[in-house]
Amino acid sequence: MAELSFYVHIPYCVKRCGYCDFNTYTPSELKDGASLEAVSGDYIDAVLQELNIAHKEAPGSVSTIFFGGGTPSLLPAKDLGRVISAIGQQWSLAENCEITLEANPDSVDEQKLQGFKDAGFNRISFGMQSAVPHVLATLDRTHNPANVERAVRAARSVGFESISVDLIYGTPGESLEDLRTSVETALSLEIDHMSAYALIVESGTKLAGQIKRGDISMPDDDLMADMYLLVDALAEKAGLSWYELSNWSKPGHQSQHNIAYWKNANWWGLGPGAHSHLDGVRWSNVKHPTAYKTALFENRSPIHDREVLTLSQIADEGIMLPIRMREGISLKNLSNVQQSKAEPYTRTGHIDPEMWGQGTLQLTPQGRLIADRIVRELVV
Ligand SMILES: C[S@@+](CC[C@H](N)C(=O)[O-])C[C@H]1O[C@@H](n2cnc3c(N)ncnc32)[C@H](O)[C@@H]1O
Ligand code: SF4
Repeated sequence: MAELSFYVHIPYCVKRCGYCDFNTYTPSELKDGASLEAVSGDYIDAVLQELNIAHKEAPGSVSTIFFGGGTPSLLPAKDLGRVISAIGQQWSLAENCEITLEANPDSVDEQKLQGFKDAGFNRISFGMQSAVPHVLATLDRTHNPANVERAVRAARSVGFESISVDLIYGTPGESLEDLRTSVETALSLEIDHMSAYALIVESGTKLAGQIKRGDISMPDDDLMADMYLLVDALAEKAGLSWYELSNWSKPGHQSQHNIAYWKNANWWGLGPGAHSHLDGVRWSNVKHPTAYKTALFENRSPIHDREVLTLSQIADEGIMLPIRMREGISLKNLSNVQQSKAEPYTRTGHIDPEMWGQGTLQLTPQGRLIADRIVRELVV
């Protein structure tokens, strides 16, 4: 039976971080002075309505479920558990179905984590970002770095099988030594998986305003490259191997959910602004939680945009997605022209020559730094 993944978007945060432009809202942005309970009360009912639509259209055995945000860990475990139960009642769950919770280290304690574990979660991903106070302050993060360690240990003690942390590198004012401190702190917690993302300055954010005014400035490309290589070297030394440009894991702890995205599998995104892909058709839902809930409670579709992928889009994605992964691209899937464009990179240290000899295009750490440039050359 075909495999299906679910993404469940939880569009609420206590406070918006200065760099983030994800589709998330504080309770008072949604309703003046309202509490989280007041704005999220009927949200899960709307998600369950969308699940009924999905049940009619998306068959398959469910291999992964990922609750992302926003801050899913703000909602009570029993509410998120209703979604997991409803998926389990309407689909068959694959054995070892990976069920991930994205969590802010501030929003959990051992009791709450036990509730999430009992609700069916087996993987947790903490938004750590940095261990260095001045970096967290520039990122406008609320959490105290000590909370990350507390949260990781509590997740381990209640039995989470796979624990990940997210880091951001390249924050204005962050030095290579600051980043080393953050990565070493993360790795000292004996996590199973680590994501490290280069800070993106999203227009319209508080961070973009600070940079535009000249209050702070972004690091140069050389420092960004050194930072990526440092993360890679420290992770590999600690036994976490890269399996995608921004992701490292211990053996057997790769995020199966993200791999489904990179392999262009079928996934259904539930919630406002969520994206879905089913057999070459992609769509996204209306962005605002109120519009999303209203559509579903009036028995209307929440879909905002829909496109059928063209053959050339499918071919381009057949390069763009697998090139990001350690598995790389089988040379059988590249045309002669594409192979002759890529081959010189085996002599410049960007594509692994040994793997090329065995029939696979696999990027080296230096090559991962210029993955976008190599993709551009191969898809035009
Ligand atoms: C949308 S957040 C959700 C998780 C949770 N709310 C948190 O922040 O801890 C998922 C991850 O996206 C990354 N992220 C968000 N905005 C980013 C940006 N502008 N540049 C790089 N990474 C970003 C952060 O590492 C964050 O942990
Ligand atoms: S980074 Fe996470 S906590 Fe911060 S605003 Fe974005 S979603 Fe919310």
